[in-house]
Amino acid sequence: MTKNITHHNYHISISDRRSANNHNSFLIWFTGLSGSGKSTIANRVEQELFNMGIKTYSLDGDNIRNGINKDLSFSPEDRTENIRRISEVSNLMIEAGVVTLAAFVSPYKKDRKNIRSIVKDVNFVEVYINTSVEECEKRDVKGLYKKARAGEIKNMTGISAPYEAPESPDIEIKTESSSVESAVEHIIEYITPKLQLKNE
Ligand code: ADX
Repeated sequence: MTKNITHHNYHISISDRRSANNHNSFLIWFTGLSGSGKSTIANRVEQELFNMGIKTYSLDGDNIRNGINKDLSFSPEDRTENIRRISEVSNLMIEAGVVTLAAFVSPYKKDRKNIRSIVKDVNFVEVYINTSVEECEKRDVKGLYKKARAGEIKNMTGISAPYEAPESPDIEIKTESSSVESAVEHIIEYITPKLQLKNE
């Protein structure tokens, strides 16, 4: 489909935008089961960054699936397409100079590997929100686990669809043994050096 398409180079580059913002841009990707706490933690991290004067934007599975990805289901193929589109959107946000936070179940290793290759390794921070399925089911904030157990929802991650946990995430948060605030602190500490502009 890329036949007859010519790439245009624009005068304002990613490094111009990063310099104007006085910080680096990259993607912080939160992966974990539904109800694991991804959105809660991403939300708090974004607030901290925003208060530090950092340009940020958050992409969230539940919101995105009501908009640009509302045509997608939870089949493995559609989840792959969901993550691919979000990776491309994230890449544009990075190019726009924005620190992007993305909270998606993203259960498949191959899809998360693809994000890394789309946005480039150096721009990717993988945060694994590790909450057991038992705990997510106990919390059942959205009532989805109950529906999945009753057979009303098919392909429910952790119940009737797999979750392939990251083997070496940049950051792992075990929400059953640490508070939201300590998780946020940990993430901010990790990304602070990454925010500094390097001489390009
Ligand atoms: S992903 O697997 O394609 O990355 P995504 O993060 O966009 O998923 O959407 C997950 C959200 O959709 C969950 O937080 C939950 O609220 C809702 N949802 C509805 N059906 C399912 C399902 N079968 N599996 C997982 N999440 C579901």
